Amino acid sequence: MIKNKFYVTTPIYYVNDTPHIGHAYTTILADVLARFHRALGDDVFFLTGVDEHGQKVQQAAEKRGLAPQQHCDDLAPRFSSLWKELGISNDDFIRTTEERHIRVVQSILQKVFDNGDIYQKEYEGLYSVAEERFITEKEAESGQFREVKVLKEKNYFFRMSRYQERLIRYIEENPGFIRPEHRKNEMLGFLRQPLTDLCISRPKSRLAWGIEIPFDRDFVTYVWFDALINYISAVGYLSDEEKFKRWWPASAQLIGKDILTTHSIYWTTMLFSLELPLPEVIFAHGWWLMGESKMSKSLGNVIKPLDLIEQHGVDAVRYYLMSEMNLGSDANFTLENFIKRYNSDLANDFGNLLNRVSGLIGKYFEGVIPGQGDLSEADREIAAQASTLGSRVEELVRQYKVDAAIDQIMELIRVVNKYMEVQAPWKLAKTDLPAAGRVLYVATEALRIAAVLLRAVMPDKAGRVLEILGVQASGLVWGGLESGVKLPIFPPLFPRIELEKV
Ligand code: MSP
Repeated sequence: MIKNKFYVTTPIYYVNDTPHIGHAYTTILADVLARFHRALGDDVFFLTGVDEHGQKVQQAAEKRGLAPQQHCDDLAPRFSSLWKELGISNDDFIRTTEERHIRVVQSILQKVFDNGDIYQKEYEGLYSVAEERFITEKEAESGQFREVKVLKEKNYFFRMSRYQERLIRYIEENPGFIRPEHRKNEMLGFLRQPLTDLCISRPKSRLAWGIEIPFDRDFVTYVWFDALINYISAVGYLSDEEKFKRWWPASAQLIGKDILTTHSIYWTTMLFSLELPLPEVIFAHGWWLMGESKMSKSLGNVIKPLDLIEQHGVDAVRYYLMSEMNLGSDANFTLENFIKRYNSDLANDFGNLLNRVSGLIGKYFEGVIPGQGDLSEADREIAAQASTLGSRVEELVRQYKVDAAIDQIMELIRVVNKYMEVQAPWKLAKTDLPAAGRVLYVATEALRIAAVLLRAVMPDKAGRVLEILGVQASGLVWGGLESGVKLPIFPPLFPRIELEKV
């Protein structure tokens, strides 16, 4: 069987501060997609990393009285170790100060210079120090840019304008390329204005912390031109042809809506110039807000993922972030919501079903999973719903509707909890023990199927459920649960969070 390829990327995060929930969100989302695709049998490559050059990082280093490289060496592991704590299954972690990346950036600059898409000119314009780029007058008028000043400078420019028409055509001909739909329209709107060329250098006299331009040592590369290249330098572009052919183009490039222009315009035109195919999908998700504003370091309103993990466990955090945000829209982060969702979905529904079936199997069957027997009408309804769950979830995940996919799984759990109440196997056990066994088998098997699918979101806890159920096979076909397996005694997986404790 030929395997499908799935190459997924996250933005590479600036190392100007320790990671917060916003960064964790994109990375967990990529992880959930990677795990789903691995479970589907796809060949997966999952890339994340850190963006270490540019003014923001240089300033952060200065503030701490450190050399930029020292600062980066200190911060990069904070990201990679947080990803470990969050159960992130990335295949690579790229740092833009690594030799393997720098070499490729310089080769690309030379290549694009040689093919005539980079030229030098003197430019005078409005420059936003905060954004680290020249802005148009219209942008300046919008008032969204901080620290704007007039700057006159000789610099190198990338001929982005040359590719404007081609990009518009590409976006129109590939409606699933920029997602969700309203972001695609936003970009087409942006492209109605003439596209200006992109300034891709910074004189060393103004900014020293960057990749040196190979054909003019007085300049370093603009941080975005450097950073975007990580998506191909990590998979062997200009260094390992076979690897590159295997993975590029990326299947899904996940980003926040704040960096949509850099990805769908800068990055795509760079790829055009290099004559490389564009990624299949660029997906821009919304923001996690605190009240009305974006959660961000500069606003000082960040939630630290580690604090939440310490208190409530990794999988509860992963579950909350994935189920609460409708992919593409913004979502509000509140501790109250987090606890509500945890208690209702994980403690009351999922955890409770496990406790109930295992408790009753313990009480009436000496802890040994009973046989299935002949299914009744009500049993068959559960079996039917559970049997189609996998394909329904797969379909939703392929459409990037992760929250809806999770809801489908939780819906099965809710239905099974109701079924338990109606069937009342604890009553049946007194008059018809095989019938009670049948009901418990059906409920436990549905729980098994739900747990198999939830593993992408909660690898640890859902994996633990399967371990408890003694499941070897993790297929989605009805009947995978083995009768005769003895269940162990285990502590509750999702103890309720009592509000007064918070
Ligand atoms: N270094 C650039 C990206 C270069 S990619 C070639 C950058 N880094 S960043 O550290 O500012 O983080 C960017 C990403 O973090 C956002 O695009 C988004 O994916 C995520 N988030 C940061 N804050 C966020 C929220 N408050 N909510 C959701 N995601 C956010 O830009």
